[in-house]
Amino acid sequence: MRCALVSRSLDLRGYLGTVFPRIVERIEIVDHRGNGKDADIRLAIAWNPPDDAFEHYPNLQAVCSIGAGVDSIVRCPSLRPAIDVVRVVDPAQAQMMSGFVAWHVIWHQRRFRSYLDQQRARIWQRLAQRAAQDVPVAILGYGEIGQRVAADLAAFGFPVMVWSRTAKLTSPSIRGFHGGAGLDAMLGETEVLVNLLPLTPETRGILNRERFCKIRRGGYLIQVGRGEHLVDEDLLAALESGQLEGAALDVFATEPLAREHPFWSHPRIVITPHDACEVRIEAVADTLVATADAIRTGQRPPFAIDRDRGY
Ligand code: NDP
Ligand code: OXD
Repeated sequence: MRCALVSRSLDLRGYLGTVFPRIVERIEIVDHRGNGKDADIRLAIAWNPPDDAFEHYPNLQAVCSIGAGVDSIVRCPSLRPAIDVVRVVDPAQAQMMSGFVAWHVIWHQRRFRSYLDQQRARIWQRLAQRAAQDVPVAILGYGEIGQRVAADLAAFGFPVMVWSRTAKLTSPSIRGFHGGAGLDAMLGETEVLVNLLPLTPETRGILNRERFCKIRRGGYLIQVGRGEHLVDEDLLAALESGQLEGAALDVFATEPLAREHPFWSHPRIVITPHDACEVRIEAVADTLVATADAIRTGQRPPFAIDRDRGY
């Protein structure tokens, strides 16, 4: 089976380099062709594809993402509705994300920013400690990654709330909310807000003034979903007013973040370059092989998203 590499922002051939031996026996990898048509291509791997990318492949059946998110693929205008979009689901990625989120929750709970300030001023002074039980954490998104993050934070003793589109069965230490009313109810009890949603028309701009106003004053935002979930000016205003004490931002509407963006120099924002958790390259290769096998046998690929929902 032939698979096209399709990206305008990433050298996918270089990216997949070390796992080529894992796939070459089953899949012939070819570079994207920017003109003409290739009727032999039934599979593609993509990240930020060019707008017309999929016009070149009339028999394309599935496109694999190289990550958990598929937004850069589903927004591509040439992606026909019948093409399956497949994402990577990797428990190791969820574990990595969980550590990243826990680090930031504890950073806020244990006042590490204040200690850094004190260190710079050579001040030896203990600050009042707060128990994990006193810092309620809400997670937007209770999917493959949100579930792991919620379970680990609950194990640390944080009161954990989760929000999803549909009602979910949760464990006794995790309270579940869903729908618009559920979101309002949850935010009313939230101090730390973690965003782990996929980017869809329904979730775009969800991290905004209205939501920030509902959480506890002095709250904290951990933004690891997608940049377009956040209204940047509303975050800056919430930090300015003290409604939010700080924010950890890993994803941005435009990546890399422009050098002149005010987030860079904000004293209460911590920035990481879309690096909260990296999907293992082996998991990407396995997803590609499983998708190729599914196409060969006429099955739906494992981890194909629901195209109507967009995730
Ligand atoms: P899943 O698809 O497994 O889970 C998505 C969750 O979001 C589900 O619980 C779903 O609800 C919920 N959801 C979707 N739409 C809505 C809505 N309109 N209202 C309420 N809840 C909604 O995704 P993952 O957990 O694997 O990944 C989540 C996202 O995390 C990715 O799409 C990506 O954006 C981001 N990510 C970021 C990374 C980084 O490095 N910063 C790395 C990996 C992922 P329901 O269960 O009811 O369907
Ligand atoms: C992502 C990922 O979707 O890294 O951001 O998997």
